Amino acid sequence: MTDLTFIQSYYSLIASSPYSRFIPYLNAFLAILSVYLIYKTIFPPTNPNGQVLNAQQQAKQNPKPIVFTKFTPATLQPFNGVVEERVLMAIKGRVYDVSAGRSFYGPGGPYSNFAGRDASRGLAKGSFDEDMLTAIDEPIDTLDDLTVDEIEALKDWERHFASKYLLCGELVEVL
Ligand code: HEM
Repeated sequence: MTDLTFIQSYYSLIASSPYSRFIPYLNAFLAILSVYLIYKTIFPPTNPNGQVLNAQQQAKQNPKPIVFTKFTPATLQPFNGVVEERVLMAIKGRVYDVSAGRSFYGPGGPYSNFAGRDASRGLAKGSFDEDMLTAIDEPIDTLDDLTVDEIEALKDWERHFASKYLLCGELVEVL
């Protein structure tokens, strides 16, 4: 609505100016804009199940909706872009849907080893080595031994993921 208010004040400004001959074009433009906005209001964007999406969901549309849920390392692992198309990744106990970054984390991507896994240690240390990943049947990494710099690096990554991807769950030891 703020946009419309702006357009209206702009309209009154040019009505008294030499540009008044453009008013019919402006009217036509506003009419089309109004029809478009009314259409979008009556028929808002939906996902394939017909559910109306909010702005954040529209930006991060996924094939299937996901409910905030708990994952163990074992239930998270299939979400690696191969077994499950959706790609999830855990950082400090938070699970993010990183499907939008499939080119990074999906099969063949440079960071595919983090897909479906707890990526905390690797991100903190800036390493893709296999030993950065905790085995699925081992307890979740407590990250107790990280240096101050590594903890800081991990916090920066956390901020990056929180601002870019949808938080969709938490990583727990048992369900
Ligand atoms: C050879 C060194 C590296 C190069 C040239 C490189 C290059 C890049 C580039 C170009 C991006 C995309 C940035 C963007 O478009 O936003 C990126 C993102 C990223 N890099 Fe690297 N990188 C390197 C090393 C690493 C290391 C060591 C790690 C951690 C283990 C890492 C983890 C990531 C992650 C998590 C992202 C973010 C992807 C996202 O936004 O989802 N990178 N890197």
